[in-house]
Amino acid sequence: MKVKKKEKIIVIDFGSQLTKLIARRIRELGVFSEILTLRELKKLKNFDEIKGIILSGGPGTVTTKKFPNIPYSIFLKNIPILGICYGLQLIAKKFGGKVRSGKKKREFGRAILKKKKSSLLTRNFYKENKTQIWMSHQDVVQKLPKGFNKIASTKDSKLTIIENKIKNFYGIQFHPEVTHTNNGSVIFKNFIFLICKVKKRWKVDFEKNRIIKDIKNKVKKDKVICALSGGVDSSVVALLIHKAIKNNLKCIMVDTGLMRKNEFKYTYKIFKNKYRLNVKLINASNIYYKKLKNVSDPEKKRKIIGNLFVKIFEKEAKKIKNVKYLAQGTLYPDIVESRSATGSKTSKIKSHHNVGGLPKKMKLRLIEPLKELFKDEVRKIANSIGLVKTISSRHPFPGPGLGIRVLGKITPERISILQEADNIFINELISKKLYNKIWQAYAALLPIKTVGVMGDSRTYEYTCLIRAVTSEDGMTADYFNFSKDFLDEISNKIINGVNGINRVVYDISSKPPSTIELE
Ligand code: XMP
Repeated sequence: MKVKKKEKIIVIDFGSQLTKLIARRIRELGVFSEILTLRELKKLKNFDEIKGIILSGGPGTVTTKKFPNIPYSIFLKNIPILGICYGLQLIAKKFGGKVRSGKKKREFGRAILKKKKSSLLTRNFYKENKTQIWMSHQDVVQKLPKGFNKIASTKDSKLTIIENKIKNFYGIQFHPEVTHTNNGSVIFKNFIFLICKVKKRWKVDFEKNRIIKDIKNKVKKDKVICALSGGVDSSVVALLIHKAIKNNLKCIMVDTGLMRKNEFKYTYKIFKNKYRLNVKLINASNIYYKKLKNVSDPEKKRKIIGNLFVKIFEKEAKKIKNVKYLAQGTLYPDIVESRSATGSKTSKIKSHHNVGGLPKKMKLRLIEPLKELFKDEVRKIANSIGLVKTISSRHPFPGPGLGIRVLGKITPERISILQEADNIFINELISKKLYNKIWQAYAALLPIKTVGVMGDSRTYEYTCLIRAVTSEDGMTADYFNFSKDFLDEISNKIINGVNGINRVVYDISSKPPSTIELE
């Protein structure tokens, strides 16, 4: 089906960690959705394609003099509006309701929502007039804004859902975007299909054709270079660009020696032989090991690995004549995360390795074909362009690779021990059909040796840590619940199969307070 105008729902970001999930839920329902910051909203001139507006949650409070706000004109455009959490409080404030900072009445976690009045927004949402929802708020709407009705309540917040049916403005205090809210997607379904009256006609496949066409138009006869890592993102970028400009795409793979066992060579062969891409493989492992010798600080490791990559890539790229563009696998969450919703700076937890310095340094223009897509959408495109499943369903892998999974000092010996253990772990997950149930799994080598006994001899060897998490986007994560049998078996296989390891531990921490990687 041809879509002339891209009907969309916009999500105004007030800084909640959950904003991205809202946009994702809408797209999952087959409607395009985009996140805008307040600054972007203020600059927006044309609202023709916008069929609905969602105001996200955020850390702000309307109970202070200055608060994150939107122009009143947004409410005059005849576009349905749904406020979630802070969004509800903002709507209440704008229309003369009363919002109180409710330290005593704050609600975090699960709550029971009770129906007070029928509404299009809550059609098919309840079971016997109530349902379980997920709350995370301190401020409470205490007095209804003008023109609004009460639709549902919890014990501690009477105005949990409100509506102005005539103007199509809705506000909800809980978070329908998280899975802890039962049936949360029904709220979005009702809002976009019944209230905004949008048609379900967005498919990520449309994006594929649009992306290929855009690349063709943009690049014309020029050349593009691409750093291929073998992860899903850079692989999809390379295949899409190759479809658009064929051999004018030049790919470079830098083997840092910090990759999983056999993975890099396998990827190289697939791209070279199966997809017939123009790929050059650079073996740089010795340089990496040399530069990383005796470095144990994680941030220093990241910097060395990142800078060295830029240097090597730049040198190789210079050998290719007339290159005008650099392709990168930037995703939508990267874009959303790198700009601040409300102007505040979030604290840096880890400096993520990327090739961000490259385009400026090399005076290249950027091509970022995936910059409007979420990871699961990239996987869908990967499947629709025939990327092999071993790559399209690969777990995320950090840029610095095993460099941040061999804790402490990196030596070729330690890398090789870890590669063996990790390979056993991952293969076991695949053979037990657990790999695709887990968001990310890996083995790490701890920088301590402990005593063990094998046969009749004393051993003094390394400890291997295994980590497996479930997650939606890597921002939060839970450890995976393996059976005791699986843990027994994997511990046995690693200790028996890898020289140098005599102990296996399973990491049972969630994120937060821990992170997914150990360094
Ligand atoms: P953390 O450890 O911050 O990881 O919970 C979240 C996700 O990001 C990946 N990660 C990295 N990716 N360069 C990357 O490209 C890095 O330096 C890096 N550190 C963490 C991690 O594997 C997980 O998927």
